[in-house]
Amino acid sequence: MQTHSLPDKNGYFGEFGGRFVPPELESALKILTQKYYQLRKNRSFQNELHAMYKEYAGRPSNLYFAQNLTNKIGGAKIYLKREDLNHTGAHKINNCIGQGLIAYHMGKKKLIAETGAGQHGVATATIAAYFGMRCDIYMGARDIDAQKPNVYRMKILGANVITVTQGQSTLKDAVDAALTAYVKEPDSYYLLGSAVGPHPYPVMVRDFQKIIGKEARIQILKKEGKLPKAVVACVGGGSNAMGAFFAFLPDKEVVLIAVEPAGKGEDSNRHGLSLGKGKVTLIHGFKTLTLQDKDGNIAESYSAASGLDYPGVGPELSFLKTTKRLTCVNATDKQAVNAFVELSKTEGIIPALESAHAVHYGVLLAKKMKKDDVIIINLSGRGDKDVEHVYETFLK
Ligand SMILES: Cc1ncc(COP(=O)(O)O)c(C=O)c1O
Repeated sequence: MQTHSLPDKNGYFGEFGGRFVPPELESALKILTQKYYQLRKNRSFQNELHAMYKEYAGRPSNLYFAQNLTNKIGGAKIYLKREDLNHTGAHKINNCIGQGLIAYHMGKKKLIAETGAGQHGVATATIAAYFGMRCDIYMGARDIDAQKPNVYRMKILGANVITVTQGQSTLKDAVDAALTAYVKEPDSYYLLGSAVGPHPYPVMVRDFQKIIGKEARIQILKKEGKLPKAVVACVGGGSNAMGAFFAFLPDKEVVLIAVEPAGKGEDSNRHGLSLGKGKVTLIHGFKTLTLQDKDGNIAESYSAASGLDYPGVGPELSFLKTTKRLTCVNATDKQAVNAFVELSKTEGIIPALESAHAVHYGVLLAKKMKKDDVIIINLSGRGDKDVEHVYETFLK
Protein backbone atom coordinates (compact mmCIF):
# COMPACT_ATOMS: atom_id res chain seq x y z
CA MET A 1 0.00 0.00 0.00
CA GLN A 2 1.22 3.53 -0.85
CA THR A 3 2.04 5.07 2.53
CA HIS A 4 1.24 8.53 1.17
CA SER A 5 -2.38 7.52 0.59
CA LEU A 6 -3.01 6.59 4.24
CA PRO A 7 -5.02 6.73 6.39
CA ASP A 8 -8.05 5.01 4.83
CA LYS A 9 -11.46 6.64 5.10
CA ASN A 10 -11.94 5.33 8.63
CA GLY A 11 -8.63 6.72 9.80
CA TYR A 12 -6.58 3.50 9.72
CA PHE A 13 -2.89 3.18 8.96
CA GLY A 14 -2.86 -0.61 8.47
CA GLU A 15 -4.24 -1.99 11.74
CA PHE A 16 -3.49 1.22 13.67
CA GLY A 17 -5.60 4.33 14.24
CA GLY A 18 -9.38 4.47 13.89
CA ARG A 19 -11.84 6.15 16.22
CA PHE A 20 -13.06 4.55 19.46
CA VAL A 21 -14.97 7.23 21.35
CA PRO A 22 -18.27 7.67 23.20
CA PRO A 23 -21.28 8.80 21.11
CA GLU A 24 -21.04 12.45 22.34
CA LEU A 25 -17.55 12.67 20.84
CA GLU A 26 -18.31 10.55 17.78
CA SER A 27 -20.74 13.11 16.36
CA ALA A 28 -18.38 16.07 17.03
CA LEU A 29 -15.43 14.22 15.44
CA LYS A 30 -17.50 13.18 12.44
CA ILE A 31 -18.30 16.85 11.79
CA LEU A 32 -14.63 17.75 12.28
CA THR A 33 -13.55 15.02 9.83
CA GLN A 34 -15.94 16.27 7.15
CA LYS A 35 -14.83 19.86 7.67
CA TYR A 36 -11.15 18.96 7.55
CA TYR A 37 -11.41 16.93 4.34
CA GLN A 38 -13.34 19.82 2.77
CA LEU A 39 -10.80 22.43 3.84
CA ARG A 40 -7.80 20.25 2.95
CA LYS A 41 -8.55 20.55 -0.74
CA ASN A 42 -9.74 24.14 -0.59
CA ARG A 43 -7.21 26.44 -2.23
CA SER A 44 -8.04 29.53 -0.19
CA PHE A 45 -7.64 27.54 3.07
CA GLN A 46 -4.23 26.31 1.88
CA ASN A 47 -3.29 29.90 0.98
CA GLU A 48 -4.32 31.12 4.45
CA LEU A 49 -2.35 28.29 6.06
CA HIS A 50 0.82 29.00 4.09
CA ALA A 51 0.51 32.76 4.62
CA MET A 52 0.39 32.16 8.38
CA TYR A 53 3.32 29.72 8.26
CA LYS A 54 5.31 32.46 6.58
CA GLU A 55 4.14 35.68 8.20
CA TYR A 56 3.27 34.44 11.69
CA ALA A 57 5.49 31.42 12.37
CA GLY A 58 8.45 32.71 10.36
CA ARG A 59 8.74 29.77 7.97
CA PRO A 60 10.65 28.36 6.21
CA SER A 61 12.80 27.38 9.19
CA ASN A 62 16.53 27.22 8.46
CA LEU A 63 18.36 24.03 7.63
CA TYR A 64 21.57 24.80 9.46
CA PHE A 65 24.91 23.09 8.84
CA ALA A 66 26.31 22.39 12.33
CA GLN A 67 29.94 22.81 11.31
CA ASN A 68 31.47 22.90 14.80
CA LEU A 69 29.66 19.76 15.88
CA THR A 70 30.51 18.03 12.59
CA ASN A 71 34.21 18.92 12.97
CA LYS A 72 34.22 17.74 16.58
CA ILE A 73 32.57 14.41 15.73
CA GLY A 74 34.62 13.81 12.59
CA GLY A 75 31.99 11.84 10.66
CA ALA A 76 28.96 12.70 8.52
CA LYS A 77 27.88 16.30 7.95
CA ILE A 78 25.21 17.17 10.51
CA TYR A 79 22.37 19.48 9.51
CA LEU A 80 19.81 20.76 12.01
CA LYS A 81 16.27 21.58 10.91
CA ARG A 82 15.70 24.63 13.08
CA GLU A 83 12.10 24.28 14.29
CA ASP A 84 13.37 25.95 17.47
CA LEU A 85 13.46 29.22 15.51
CA ASN A 86 9.72 29.21 14.83
CA HIS A 87 7.54 31.72 16.65
CA THR A 88 6.91 30.26 20.16
CA GLY A 89 10.05 28.13 19.90
CA ALA A 90 9.00 24.72 18.61
CA HIS A 91 7.31 22.77 15.82
CA LYS A 92 4.03 22.82 17.78
CA ILE A 93 2.99 26.15 16.23
CA ASN A 94 2.68 24.52 12.75
CA ASN A 95 -0.15 22.33 13.98
CA CYS A 96 -1.77 25.08 16.05
CA ILE A 97 -1.90 27.41 13.05
CA GLY A 98 -3.61 24.67 11.01
CA GLN A 99 -6.11 23.58 13.64
CA GLY A 100 -6.64 27.17 14.80
CA LEU A 101 -7.70 28.03 11.24
CA ILE A 102 -10.09 25.07 11.21
CA ALA A 103 -11.61 26.19 14.54
CA TYR A 104 -11.96 29.71 13.11
CA HIS A 105 -13.70 28.40 9.98
CA MET A 106 -16.04 26.35 12.18
CA GLY A 107 -16.97 29.51 14.11
CA LYS A 108 -15.56 28.21 17.42
CA LYS A 109 -15.01 30.65 20.24
CA LYS A 110 -12.96 28.50 22.59
CA LEU A 111 -9.94 26.19 22.35
CA ILE A 112 -9.27 23.33 24.75
CA ALA A 113 -5.88 21.58 24.76
CA GLU A 114 -3.57 19.38 26.79
CA THR A 115 0.12 19.98 27.14
CA GLY A 116 3.16 18.10 28.40
CA ALA A 117 6.27 20.24 27.99
CA GLY A 118 4.09 23.33 27.69
CA GLN A 119 5.16 24.02 24.09
CA HIS A 120 1.83 22.89 22.67
CA GLY A 121 0.03 24.82 25.42
CA VAL A 122 1.97 27.97 24.56
CA ALA A 123 1.34 27.52 20.82
CA THR A 124 -2.39 26.96 21.45
CA ALA A 125 -2.63 29.97 23.79
CA THR A 126 -0.82 32.01 21.11
CA ILE A 127 -3.28 31.03 18.38
CA ALA A 128 -6.23 31.63 20.74
CA ALA A 129 -4.89 35.17 21.30
CA TYR A 130 -4.43 35.64 17.54
CA PHE A 131 -8.01 34.59 16.75
CA GLY A 132 -9.55 36.20 19.85
CA MET A 133 -10.73 32.87 21.30
CA ARG A 134 -10.92 31.73 24.91
CA CYS A 135 -8.49 29.01 25.88
CA ASP A 136 -8.24 26.29 28.55
CA ILE A 137 -5.00 24.32 28.82
CA TYR A 138 -4.83 21.12 30.89
CA MET A 139 -1.39 20.32 32.29
CA GLY A 140 -0.17 17.69 34.76
CA ALA A 141 1.02 18.99 38.13
CA ARG A 142 4.42 17.33 37.64
CA ASP A 143 4.90 19.00 34.26
CA ILE A 144 3.80 22.36 35.68
CA ASP A 145 6.65 22.03 38.16
CA ALA A 146 9.23 21.10 35.52
CA GLN A 147 8.17 23.62 32.86
CA LYS A 148 7.44 26.82 34.79
CA PRO A 149 8.49 29.32 32.10
CA ASN A 150 5.90 27.89 29.72
CA VAL A 151 3.19 28.10 32.40
CA TYR A 152 3.91 31.83 32.80
CA ARG A 153 3.85 32.29 29.03
CA MET A 154 0.43 30.60 28.69
CA LYS A 155 -1.02 32.77 31.45
CA ILE A 156 0.40 35.98 29.98
CA LEU A 157 -1.11 34.98 26.62
CA GLY A 158 -4.51 34.90 28.32
CA ALA A 159 -5.08 31.14 28.74
CA ASN A 160 -6.44 29.39 31.82
CA VAL A 161 -3.93 26.76 32.90
CA ILE A 162 -5.79 23.96 34.68
CA THR A 163 -3.68 21.75 36.94
CA VAL A 164 -4.27 18.01 36.52
CA THR A 165 -3.54 15.96 39.62
CA GLN A 166 -5.05 12.61 38.67
CA GLY A 167 -2.90 9.57 37.78
CA GLN A 168 0.78 10.38 37.34
CA SER A 169 -0.02 14.08 36.79
CA THR A 170 1.67 14.07 33.38
CA LEU A 171 0.71 14.21 29.69
CA LYS A 172 -1.53 11.11 29.53
CA ASP A 173 -3.60 12.45 32.44
CA ALA A 174 -3.74 15.90 30.85
CA VAL A 175 -5.17 14.33 27.65
CA ASP A 176 -7.77 12.45 29.76
CA ALA A 177 -8.78 15.67 31.53
CA ALA A 178 -8.92 17.72 28.32
CA LEU A 179 -11.06 15.08 26.57
CA THR A 180 -13.44 14.96 29.55
CA ALA A 181 -13.76 18.75 29.44
CA TYR A 182 -14.36 18.67 25.69
CA VAL A 183 -17.19 16.13 26.05
CA LYS A 184 -18.89 18.61 28.39
CA GLU A 185 -18.32 21.52 26.01
CA PRO A 186 -18.71 20.12 22.49
CA ASP A 187 -19.14 23.68 21.12
CA SER A 188 -15.49 24.36 21.89
CA TYR A 189 -12.65 23.08 19.69
CA TYR A 190 -10.29 20.41 21.03
CA LEU A 191 -6.85 21.23 19.65
CA LEU A 192 -4.85 18.02 20.09
CA GLY A 193 -1.10 18.59 20.08
CA SER A 194 0.42 15.47 18.59
CA ALA A 195 -0.22 12.96 15.80
CA VAL A 196 -2.26 10.79 18.18
CA GLY A 197 -5.92 10.48 19.22
CA PRO A 198 -9.02 9.40 17.36
CA HIS A 199 -9.44 10.05 13.60
CA PRO A 200 -9.05 12.73 12.16
CA TYR A 201 -6.36 14.06 14.56
CA PRO A 202 -3.42 11.87 13.44
CA VAL A 203 -3.89 12.79 9.77
CA MET A 204 -4.59 16.48 10.47
CA VAL A 205 -1.59 16.92 12.74
CA ARG A 206 0.71 15.09 10.32
CA ASP A 207 -0.58 17.20 7.42
CA PHE A 208 0.10 20.43 9.32
CA GLN A 209 3.58 19.23 10.36
CA LYS A 210 4.69 17.78 7.02
CA ILE A 211 5.95 21.23 6.02
CA ILE A 212 9.08 20.38 8.10
CA GLY A 213 10.26 17.54 5.86
CA LYS A 214 8.98 19.20 2.70
CA GLU A 215 11.19 22.23 3.34
CA ALA A 216 14.14 20.14 4.58
CA ARG A 217 14.11 17.99 1.43
CA ILE A 218 14.22 21.05 -0.83
CA GLN A 219 16.85 22.74 1.35
CA ILE A 220 19.23 19.76 1.50
CA LEU A 221 19.02 19.19 -2.27
CA LYS A 222 19.92 22.85 -2.75
CA LYS A 223 22.78 22.82 -0.23
CA GLU A 224 24.27 19.37 -0.87
CA GLY A 225 22.84 18.30 -4.22
CA LYS A 226 21.74 14.98 -2.70
CA LEU A 227 19.39 13.48 -0.18
CA PRO A 228 20.53 12.78 3.40
CA LYS A 229 21.45 9.24 4.47
CA ALA A 230 19.19 9.64 7.50
CA VAL A 231 16.58 11.90 9.08
CA VAL A 232 16.52 11.73 12.88
CA ALA A 233 13.69 12.94 15.15
CA CYS A 234 12.60 12.44 18.75
CA VAL A 235 9.23 10.79 19.43
CA GLY A 236 6.67 11.65 22.07
CA GLY A 237 3.31 11.26 20.32
CA GLY A 238 5.12 11.60 17.03
CA SER A 239 4.17 14.94 15.46
CA ASN A 240 7.64 16.35 14.82
CA ALA A 241 8.85 12.93 13.65
CA MET A 242 5.96 12.42 11.20
CA GLY A 243 6.40 16.03 10.08
CA ALA A 244 10.10 15.49 9.39
CA PHE A 245 9.71 12.01 7.84
CA PHE A 246 6.65 12.34 5.64
CA ALA A 247 8.26 14.00 2.59
CA PHE A 248 11.06 11.38 2.67
CA LEU A 249 8.77 8.31 2.82
CA PRO A 250 9.08 7.57 -0.92
CA ASP A 251 12.90 7.98 -0.76
CA LYS A 252 13.65 4.40 0.26
CA GLU A 253 17.40 5.14 0.54
CA VAL A 254 16.79 7.67 3.34
CA VAL A 255 16.76 5.96 6.75
CA LEU A 256 14.07 7.40 9.03
CA ILE A 257 15.15 7.21 12.67
CA ALA A 258 12.71 7.59 15.56
CA VAL A 259 14.41 8.30 18.89
CA GLU A 260 12.30 7.42 21.92
CA PRO A 261 13.02 8.29 25.56
CA ALA A 262 14.75 5.46 27.45
CA GLY A 263 14.44 7.52 30.66
CA LYS A 264 16.39 5.73 33.37
CA GLY A 265 17.33 2.88 30.99
CA GLU A 266 15.50 0.54 28.64
CA ASP A 267 15.72 -2.32 31.14
CA SER A 268 14.31 -0.21 33.96
CA ASN A 269 10.57 0.27 34.21
CA ARG A 270 11.08 4.01 33.83
CA HIS A 271 11.00 4.78 30.13
CA GLY A 272 8.66 5.77 27.28
CA LEU A 273 9.52 3.15 24.66
CA SER A 274 6.08 2.64 23.10
CA LEU A 275 7.52 1.81 19.66
CA GLY A 276 10.44 -0.14 21.08
CA LYS A 277 8.55 -2.23 23.63
CA GLY A 278 4.84 -1.52 23.17
CA LYS A 279 1.97 -3.86 22.37
CA VAL A 280 -1.18 -3.11 20.38
CA THR A 281 -4.12 -1.73 22.32
CA LEU A 282 -6.48 1.24 22.58
CA ILE A 283 -5.49 4.51 24.20
CA HIS A 284 -7.27 7.87 24.00
CA GLY A 285 -9.70 6.64 21.35
CA PHE A 286 -7.30 5.02 18.87
CA LYS A 287 -5.40 1.77 18.35
CA THR A 288 -1.63 1.80 18.55
CA LEU A 289 1.47 0.46 20.28
CA THR A 290 1.43 1.31 23.98
CA LEU A 291 3.33 0.42 27.11
CA GLN A 292 1.45 -2.24 29.05
CA ASP A 293 1.81 -3.94 32.40
CA LYS A 294 1.59 -7.72 32.77
CA ASP A 295 -2.21 -7.54 33.05
CA GLY A 296 -2.51 -5.68 29.74
CA ASN A 297 -3.33 -2.29 31.31
CA ILE A 298 -1.62 0.86 30.03
CA ALA A 299 1.59 1.15 32.03
CA GLU A 300 3.16 4.35 33.33
CA SER A 301 5.67 6.03 31.07
CA TYR A 302 8.57 8.19 32.13
CA SER A 303 11.03 10.66 30.66
CA ALA A 304 12.85 13.66 32.10
CA ALA A 305 11.55 15.41 28.95
CA SER A 306 7.87 16.09 29.70
CA GLY A 307 6.97 16.23 26.01
CA LEU A 308 8.15 12.63 25.46
CA ASP A 309 6.48 11.19 28.55
CA TYR A 310 3.52 9.42 26.89
CA PRO A 311 2.73 5.68 27.05
CA GLY A 312 1.51 5.50 23.44
CA VAL A 313 2.56 6.75 20.03
CA GLY A 314 0.89 8.00 16.86
CA PRO A 315 -0.73 5.26 14.72
CA GLU A 316 1.22 6.18 11.58
CA LEU A 317 4.54 5.62 13.38
CA SER A 318 3.29 2.25 14.69
CA PHE A 319 2.40 1.37 11.10
CA LEU A 320 5.79 2.50 9.75
CA LYS A 321 7.53 0.47 12.44
CA THR A 322 5.65 -2.72 11.65
CA THR A 323 6.24 -2.23 7.90
CA LYS A 324 9.96 -1.75 8.71
CA ARG A 325 10.17 1.72 7.11
CA LEU A 326 11.19 3.13 10.49
CA THR A 327 14.31 2.49 12.54
CA CYS A 328 13.50 2.72 16.26
CA VAL A 329 16.24 3.64 18.72
CA ASN A 330 16.37 5.46 22.06
CA ALA A 331 18.29 7.81 24.34
CA THR A 332 18.31 7.86 28.14
CA ASP A 333 17.75 11.00 30.25
CA LYS A 334 21.46 11.15 30.89
CA GLN A 335 22.41 10.84 27.22
CA ALA A 336 19.86 13.53 26.34
CA VAL A 337 21.23 15.89 29.00
CA ASN A 338 24.78 15.32 27.72
CA ALA A 339 23.64 16.11 24.18
CA PHE A 340 21.77 19.19 25.50
CA VAL A 341 25.04 20.49 26.96
CA GLU A 342 27.19 19.43 24.00
CA LEU A 343 25.05 21.21 21.40
CA SER A 344 24.88 24.28 23.63
CA LYS A 345 28.67 24.41 24.04
CA THR A 346 29.71 23.54 20.47
CA GLU A 347 27.11 25.44 18.45
CA GLY A 348 25.66 27.99 20.87
CA ILE A 349 22.23 26.40 20.41
CA ILE A 350 20.32 25.22 23.50
CA PRO A 351 17.92 22.51 22.32
CA ALA A 352 14.70 21.44 24.02
CA LEU A 353 15.36 18.40 26.19
CA GLU A 354 13.01 16.48 23.89
CA SER A 355 15.05 17.42 20.81
CA ALA A 356 18.29 16.58 22.67
CA HIS A 357 17.26 12.89 22.45
CA ALA A 358 17.48 13.18 18.66
CA VAL A 359 20.75 15.10 18.90
CA HIS A 360 22.27 12.30 21.02
CA TYR A 361 21.43 9.62 18.50
CA GLY A 362 22.27 11.78 15.47
CA VAL A 363 25.78 12.39 16.84
CA LEU A 364 26.31 8.65 17.52
CA LEU A 365 25.23 7.87 13.98
CA ALA A 366 27.29 10.62 12.34
CA LYS A 367 30.43 9.31 14.10
CA LYS A 368 30.06 5.96 12.32
CA MET A 369 29.49 7.49 8.89
CA LYS A 370 31.76 8.79 6.12
CA LYS A 371 32.72 12.46 5.86
CA ASP A 372 30.76 13.03 2.68
CA ASP A 373 27.59 11.51 4.13
CA VAL A 374 24.86 13.87 5.31
CA ILE A 375 22.26 13.52 8.05
CA ILE A 376 19.44 15.79 9.18
CA ILE A 377 18.42 16.05 12.83
CA ASN A 378 15.07 17.67 13.49
CA LEU A 379 15.66 20.23 16.22
CA SER A 380 12.02 20.28 17.31
CA GLY A 381 12.32 23.08 19.86
CA ARG A 382 14.49 25.39 21.89
CA GLY A 383 15.58 24.70 25.44
CA ASP A 384 14.78 27.91 27.31
CA LYS A 385 11.93 26.08 29.07
CA ASP A 386 14.37 23.42 30.30
CA VAL A 387 17.39 25.37 31.50
CA GLU A 388 16.34 25.68 35.15
CA HIS A 389 15.14 22.08 35.44
CA VAL A 390 18.20 20.60 33.71
CA TYR A 391 20.62 22.76 35.66
CA GLU A 392 19.05 22.10 39.06
CA THR A 393 18.37 18.39 38.50
CA PHE A 394 21.34 17.18 36.48
CA LEU A 395 24.18 19.68 36.42
CA LYS A 396 24.50 21.16 39.91
C1 LIG B 1 10.16 20.65 21.67
C2 LIG B 1 9.36 19.40 21.63
N1 LIG B 1 9.81 18.38 20.87
C3 LIG B 1 9.14 17.21 20.79
C4 LIG B 1 7.97 17.02 21.51
C5 LIG B 1 7.27 15.69 21.41
O1 LIG B 1 6.07 15.75 20.74
P1 LIG B 1 5.89 15.11 19.31
O2 LIG B 1 6.36 13.68 19.41
O3 LIG B 1 4.45 15.22 19.05
O4 LIG B 1 6.72 15.88 18.35
C6 LIG B 1 7.46 18.05 22.32
C7 LIG B 1 6.21 17.89 23.08
O5 LIG B 1 5.85 18.66 23.89
C8 LIG B 1 8.18 19.27 22.37
O6 LIG B 1 7.76 20.29 23.12
